[in-house]
Amino acid sequence: MGGHGHQLTDEEAAAMFEPPSWEERYSGEEKIWSGNPNAQLVAEVSGLTPGTALDVGCGEGGDVIWLARQGWTVTGADFSANGLARAARHAAEAGVADRTDWWQVDARTFAADGRSFDLVTTHFLHPPDGGMVEVTSRLAEAVAPGGHLLVVGHAPSEVFTHLTASQRRAMFLAEDLLPGLPDAFEVLVAEQRPRTMTRDGKTVNVHDSTLLAQRTA
Ligand SMILES: C[S@@+](CC[C@H](N)C(=O)[O-])C[C@H]1O[C@@H](n2cnc3c(N)ncnc32)[C@H](O)[C@@H]1O
Repeated sequence: MGGHGHQLTDEEAAAMFEPPSWEERYSGEEKIWSGNPNAQLVAEVSGLTPGTALDVGCGEGGDVIWLARQGWTVTGADFSANGLARAARHAAEAGVADRTDWWQVDARTFAADGRSFDLVTTHFLHPPDGGMVEVTSRLAEAVAPGGHLLVVGHAPSEVFTHLTASQRRAMFLAEDLLPGLPDAFEVLVAEQRPRTMTRDGKTVNVHDSTLLAQRTA
């Protein structure tokens, strides 16, 4: 999520949530994300027995690579073809190409198509207008019985006042997502977890909204 020097029109703000905007961000050579796995992924998944995993909004593949190194067989999914191509390149460089595959999907219309996974995870995918509730319910359909769903995003914060109003509205609390969770799930974690991140060379305090649920049937 980047800042903007001028007031965006409604169309410009809406376009930031669509594939062409992300295709452009991933079109250059410069790496956008650190490549390190996300903190809540490491915190929650390190103790699980590896199986099959789906990471939706996988971007450049940092989490996919970490999961593959832990022994998971991972499908990285994103709506950006350029992002997926980068992720596949990074996975090959990391020596985990044989444990990974790639799926171009839009989380807002995602359908599991009969596939199911022991872990479905998504980090910092922020669809507009409260869309994460429906994304949560769509991703839940792809969780195998006994499997886990981990949804993580930015909690709203003063730290993000440089972003557009629509980007800030797309942030959520873990409990906001609960209406999207089917009855077959038990909630294991629904909380905002403190984390520090570096922005413009400064350390800032943020909270990761973290929902972890397990499919019981
Ligand atoms: C902020 S990046 C996070 C990337 C990665 N999960 C991480 O935490 O480093 C958001 C990613 O979600 C993807 N994305 C955004 N909206 C999406 C949607 N509706 N469906 C699928 N992917 C989406 C973008 O292309 C981008 O790669």
